[in-house]
Amino acid sequence: MTARAGAIVSLVFVALAAGPGPAAAGDAAAGKAMAAACTGCHGEDGVSEMALTPSLAGEPDDFLQWQLVYFRSGARKSDVMEPLAQSLSNEEIRNLGAYFASLPPPRPQPAPQSDALAQRGAGLAAQNRCQACHGEAFAGSGAVARLAGQREDVVLKALRDFKSGRRVGSGVASMADATYPLGDDDMQALAHYLAGRP
Ligand code: HEC
Ligand code: HEC
Repeated sequence: MTARAGAIVSLVFVALAAGPGPAAAGDAAAGKAMAAACTGCHGEDGVSEMALTPSLAGEPDDFLQWQLVYFRSGARKSDVMEPLAQSLSNEEIRNLGAYFASLPPPRPQPAPQSDALAQRGAGLAAQNRCQACHGEAFAGSGAVARLAGQREDVVLKALRDFKSGRRVGSGVASMADATYPLGDDDMQALAHYLAGRP
């Protein structure tokens, strides 16, 4: 990671340590009351039907909060999310995290056995030990994202962004390390496999 990215990440940690951090429990009902500002893009019930827009339903609470903090600070780049997150208070971020985390995750149809691309993705996930952090069922936990059932285009963009250094995650260099050995065809197979996992 570059020195600048390191500085941004430490600033974010300082800001969170000073304010209410992801450890504090949010109010899901209050989050639901303001979720109309989000569901036009992220989908009714947090399951996205919009290109390049992540599903939020069932993502870990801490993960959701951290991403909003990263957008707010500019550490994670998005023309859409940066201005939106800038208007959110720590309390609103906690409440939104609690609400979307409480929703049932997307449930895609499992990929058919004959899906060769998904099988290649499963092999790559095992070989690269993605489950060590994302969990046996890719459900995520804490600051680690849920991957199962996420949109295929979203997973692929995220992997490309981590590999190119456009996106710097919270595990310091964990996703930069994880994507380092992957070629673009590997990332396509992983995205296809993960999107089809219920
Ligand atoms: C105009 C459409 C739009 C609206 C409205 C919107 N988002 Fe987003 N959101 C996006 C897009 C597009 C991304 C993907 C950014 C990227 O490419 O990295 C995103 C990413 C996110 C992420 C990161 C998820 C992940 O899996 O990486 C979170 C969390 C999020 N938005 C929460 C919210 C919340 C909470 C609201 C309401 C306050 C909201 N968004 C409103 C379009 C939108
Ligand atoms: C050392 C732990 C670790 C390993 C190993 C790991 N990840 Fe991650 N991953 C993370 C963390 C932490 C995040 C959240 C990063 C952030 O804060 O932006 C993440 C985020 C992601 C995201 C973004 C999801 C979203 O909705 O924004 C994708 C996609 C992803 N990982 C895929 C993978 C794949 C595929 C592998 C295996 C090749 C893998 N990860 C291995 C820790 C890990």
